[in-house]
Amino acid sequence: MIIGCQWGDEGKGKIVDVLAEDAQLVVRYQGGANAGHTVQLPDQEFILHQIPSGILHPDKRCLIGNGVVLDAAEFLREYDALDQRGVNPKKRVGVSYGAHLVLPYHKILDQVSEDQATKKIGTTGRGIGPTYEDKVGRRGLRVGDLRHPDRTNTLIEEGIARAKSIIGEGESITDSLMEDREAFLRDSDRLVEFATDVGLEIANTLADGDSVLLEGAQGTALDVDHGTYPFVTSSNTTAGAAAIGSGIGPTMIDSVTGVVKAYTTRVGNGPLPTAFEPEMDEMIRELGGEFGATTGRPRRCGWFDGVLAKFSARVNGLTGLAVTKLDVLDTLPEVYVCTGYETQHGIIEDFPADLVELGEVKPVYEMLPGWMEPTKEIRSQEDLPRAARVFLERLEELAETSIEMVSVGPKRSQIIRF
Ligand code: IMP
Repeated sequence: MIIGCQWGDEGKGKIVDVLAEDAQLVVRYQGGANAGHTVQLPDQEFILHQIPSGILHPDKRCLIGNGVVLDAAEFLREYDALDQRGVNPKKRVGVSYGAHLVLPYHKILDQVSEDQATKKIGTTGRGIGPTYEDKVGRRGLRVGDLRHPDRTNTLIEEGIARAKSIIGEGESITDSLMEDREAFLRDSDRLVEFATDVGLEIANTLADGDSVLLEGAQGTALDVDHGTYPFVTSSNTTAGAAAIGSGIGPTMIDSVTGVVKAYTTRVGNGPLPTAFEPEMDEMIRELGGEFGATTGRPRRCGWFDGVLAKFSARVNGLTGLAVTKLDVLDTLPEVYVCTGYETQHGIIEDFPADLVELGEVKPVYEMLPGWMEPTKEIRSQEDLPRAARVFLERLEELAETSIEMVSVGPKRSQIIRF
């Protein structure tokens, strides 16, 4: 399993792409088109929002589990774009019968809820929260329902009526709910062809002795239970969700690789304890290209947060760490890591369970010398500058997890295996 250990955007897409080489099946199990997984191949770049990054390998099958909320139009656009750009996705993509569908009115409700909120979350506007609300409210429309037009129509009618009761009648927006519905039904006819039993496919693949890679979206601190609530997404982004969201038992999972950036970023609102001062923020954003892959929003940047990394290791049961974007720090004379949080009750090294406290903490930093050498072309641990190795060792200590690989650039080849 590959899991994000910060606030998303850790570079999971690239790590999944690298590890997909050894797997037969790649499965997404939570989130939706709010994710944006960027993968750079020698000749072109792909940003995938719903189809697992494993699709860029010619012979892998890629599945979308029941835990995902699926945007049909976006999914088909992504599928067709892959086809047009020379990645043949035919017969290689499947969607769980149990995946809930994001309907056009969910996106409108997402916007309305942000507009009306006193505490704005800064969502991606992809209808994620309202779709999960309908799922838990037991009134959602699932991929399997599309095989039964009467059932589908009734659920959509009821959904539109509910949306109108929230948004208000007589507004132009309610007309667009109806128009969008026709487009949605056209997409549905195509989507139903992709329906499959994801849990069964995984079990059969494992029974044949092949490997399965589970691809997480967003990151630990955005988990609806364990993240910085309420500034979180609406799904469980931590490792426990992979079994539920794909339809397998937890004992079938034998490794959990956590992905961390060599620094921290966050897009959307909510606390970011290690946030940089404005000048440094600007510099790292430019050096690291830290703009949202889904919304294009600038990401807030900060130093590596060892307290969060330790928490992520615990809550996800990490078996290894993948560190990305080490090269972004190549030119810095000094690098800092956060080793604790200063609170009213003294210094703590464990992520506070009280999130009000999190908003008030001051990070405690340790300064390490920078390496001031390019690392992009390095391919082995021994060839890394000494200061970079010391920095990475410190990350391992803080996260209490061994590093398995370090990424030193966006390309597939820019990876160092430990
Ligand atoms: P939502 O998932 O669109 O409801 O957004 C809720 C919060 O999660 C917002 O702060 C978003 O910016 C954040 N978020 C959602 N998906 C991602 C992602 O893939 N990367 C980083 N942040 C995300």
